[in-house]
Amino acid sequence: NLLQQVHDIEQQLTVSGDTLKKITEHFITELEKGLSKEGGNIPMLPGWVLDFPTGKEKGDYLAIDLGGTNLRVVLVKLGGNRDFDTTQSKFALPSYMRTATLDQLWDFIAKSLKSFLDEFFPDGVSSPLPLGFTFSYPAFQNSINEGVLKAWTKGFDIDGVEGHDVVPMLQAAIEKYDLPIKVVALINDTTGTLVASMYTDSDAKMGLIFGTGCNGAYYDVVKDVPKLEGLVPDDISPDSPMAINCEYGAFDNEHVALPRTKYDITIDEESPRPGQQAFEKMISGYYLGEILRLILLELAEEKKLIFKDQDLSKLKELFILDTSFPAKIEEDPFENLSDVQELFQTVLGIQTTVPERKIVRRFAELIGERSARLSICGIAAICKKRGYTSANCAADGSVVNKYPGFKERAAKGLRDIFEWETEEDPIKIVAAEDGSGAGAAIIAALTEKRLAAGL
Ligand code: BG6
Ligand code: GLC
Repeated sequence: NLLQQVHDIEQQLTVSGDTLKKITEHFITELEKGLSKEGGNIPMLPGWVLDFPTGKEKGDYLAIDLGGTNLRVVLVKLGGNRDFDTTQSKFALPSYMRTATLDQLWDFIAKSLKSFLDEFFPDGVSSPLPLGFTFSYPAFQNSINEGVLKAWTKGFDIDGVEGHDVVPMLQAAIEKYDLPIKVVALINDTTGTLVASMYTDSDAKMGLIFGTGCNGAYYDVVKDVPKLEGLVPDDISPDSPMAINCEYGAFDNEHVALPRTKYDITIDEESPRPGQQAFEKMISGYYLGEILRLILLELAEEKKLIFKDQDLSKLKELFILDTSFPAKIEEDPFENLSDVQELFQTVLGIQTTVPERKIVRRFAELIGERSARLSICGIAAICKKRGYTSANCAADGSVVNKYPGFKERAAKGLRDIFEWETEEDPIKIVAAEDGSGAGAAIIAALTEKRLAAGL
C-alpha cells in the first residue's frame, strides 16, 4: 500500500553517516587515480593556474561566465587590496540553447558581449580588453589559454564542440562582431570560485559549485600530480601550486560506492550521455526535480496509489520539474500545504489531496537531504587527501544559494563524517565571492603578470 511504498522510498533515499564515510574513502581513491598517469573516472583536470592570488592583483578585466542557467558578462575592477568591484549583466540561457547549434551558441555569447560593451563602453576602448572565460564544462588544458571540451554535461548537447578547443571558437565569434576583446584565459567555474574566494579570504581552500551541476576545485602541487610529468615547462618548479578542476560529477561512474536507486538509473538512461556523471546525476540541480517526477509518476501511473483520476500527461513530460519545484514544496509554510497545491495545479494541472501533499513534501525533503549529504563527500575527500584539518570551502550555485536547508544538511553530513568534538566546525562551507567571473578576471591578471615576466 501507499505507506509501505513511502517507507520503501524513504529507505532508498536515506544515506547514513557510515555510508558517507565509505563513499568518502572511495572518493579519495578515485581522486588519486584521476591524478595518476592511467587516469580514472574523475578527470582531475589541471587548470594551469600556477599561482595563488595575493589579493594585490589590480586592473580592469572582462569576464564571461557560461554556467548552467545564465551567461554573465562581467567587468571586474581589481582594487589590489583584497577588494574588487564588478559590473555585470546576466543573460538567461534560453532553454533551446542546451541543444542549439554551435553557431547559435557562439552568436548568443558574442551578441551578449556586444550589448555589454555598447552599454558600458559607448565611446569604445583604447586597447583590447583582456577577457577571462569561465567555461563550466570539463575541458582539457595544456595551458591556461585553451580548453578542449571533453564531453558536455548538465544536459547540454551541442554538436561540433566536443573534442575541440573552445578558445579559438570564442575568439572567432568576438572577431565576427568586431569586438575589441582578447581572450587570455579559460577556467572552470569551480576554479574561478576558488581563486575569487582566495583573493578575499586567506582561509579559502576549495571552490565548489552546487548548482545545475556539482563540482569542486582545489590547489595541488605539480610534483604530486603524476600525470603532469613531461607536460610542465622546465621553468616551472615541481613545488609550484596547480589548480585542479576535479570534475567530480563523474565520481563513481563504475557504480561501486554510491547507493543508486532505480530512479537514478532511469535518469542516467534518459540523459544524452548515459554512463557519465553518475554522482552529479544524483545530486545536482539539473536532476532533483526529475527524481521527484519519476517517483511521483511511479506511484501515480504504475502503482495507482496517488493522483487518482487526474490527468497525468504533464507529469509524463521529461524534465518538466526544475529544481525550484521541490525547493518550493519544502518552503511551503502552510499546514495544509496550499502553496504545494497551487504549484501542482499550475505546473502539472493536478489536483492534490492534503495527505498526498504531505507525502510529496516528504519526498522533496528526502531528495534535498540526500543531495546535500552526498554532495559533501567531495569536500571531505579533498580535505582528507590534502590533510586540511580546517578550511573554508567557498560554495556557489543555485542549489546551495536557494535550496532550503541545503547548507545545514551539508554541514550535518560533514559532521557525520568527521565527528568533530569542537564547538565550531573546522571545515565549513562558506558563501563564495559573488560569481566566478571575478576569479576569471583575477586569473587573467595572474596570466598577464606571468607573460610580462616572460614566464
Ligand atoms: C554562478 C557562478 O554564481 O554559479 C557560475 O558565477 C556558476 O560560474 C554558477 O557556473 C553555477 O550555478 P548554476 O546554478 O547556474 O549552475
Ligand atoms: C558540471 C561541469 C563542471 C562544472 C559543474 C558546475 O559538473 O562538468 O565543469 O564545474 O557542472 O557548474
